[in-house]
Amino acid sequence: MNDVVLTGDRPTGRLHLGHYFGSLANRVKLQHEYPMYVLIADYQVITDRDLPGQIQRNITDLLLDYLAVGLDPAKVTIFQHSAIPELNQLLLPFLSLVSVAELRRNPTVKDEIAHSSQQAVSGLMFTYPVHQAADILFCKGTLVPVGKDQLPHVEVTRLVARRFNERYAEVFPIPEAMLGEQPLLKGLDGGKMSKSRGNAIELAATEDETAALIRKARTDAMRLITYETHRPEVANLLTLASLCLDRPPQDIADEIGDGGAAALKRLVTEAVNEFLRPIRQRRGEHTEADVRQILAAGNERARERAIRTLDEVREAMGF
Ligand code: TRP
Repeated sequence: MNDVVLTGDRPTGRLHLGHYFGSLANRVKLQHEYPMYVLIADYQVITDRDLPGQIQRNITDLLLDYLAVGLDPAKVTIFQHSAIPELNQLLLPFLSLVSVAELRRNPTVKDEIAHSSQQAVSGLMFTYPVHQAADILFCKGTLVPVGKDQLPHVEVTRLVARRFNERYAEVFPIPEAMLGEQPLLKGLDGGKMSKSRGNAIELAATEDETAALIRKARTDAMRLITYETHRPEVANLLTLASLCLDRPPQDIADEIGDGGAAALKRLVTEAVNEFLRPIRQRRGEHTEADVRQILAAGNERARERAIRTLDEVREAMGF
């Protein structure tokens, strides 16, 4: 079978090194191996928050990050929900294929509701996983690179595809999740790396911003630098340097020896800045006008695909 890769992100802010090593690096590799779609999931932003005024800004930033890390718009179709009516229309028949009880059982949705700051839970919160099935199935995606939290949504997609095929006609392949490695990288304070915690190095950060963040990173009082689990903050900085330098963290620790936290931070800063240099440079090569054009072209390609699938779906259903 000819595999097709689809994955995506909600445009909620700039991407950081955790995203890079957790998923972007893998996508850059996959683009050479498969036809690939990358979705900017703008309609999914409204599941648990009001549409932020800066949504266009977030979309532009996300696309710039994609281009900066080396996603090639000549190879990858980058597109957004809000530009593809035929994708969104698949939601309607797909919703008829799942029960309310199934929607309520989704563990990722439950978790998001538990952590949401909104007073009322929207209908979209329960149904967006079915919308995500439309994201994957509109292009007959077969491989879905995602993190563990997204597995329930891929399960919903498989369910929808199977039921559609049984009830109407064999239209959809049954997609599979491609689980990445667990992200090895924590934030600079030892917690989960996340923009809102201020412990993340954004891909778009300047050299000085990067240096300032690493200077503030938590370490411990021991001068001898070692890579050990009982020193999580030091180990995490070594991991960061190791990923950027593509060298084992133990080697880097040996090299620093008893140079202490200051030497460690100096080395990490240099490693990260060196690593990000070509990414920053590529980011600077694209104007906002470019970005709009790249997205328009991706949207057009994705839309053609969606129109064909929706036609097949309607025909299978007898409309
Ligand atoms: N739900 C995903 C996230 O929050 C984003 C997403 C939307 C997605 N549609 C998708 C991921 C389809 C993979 C496939 O990160």
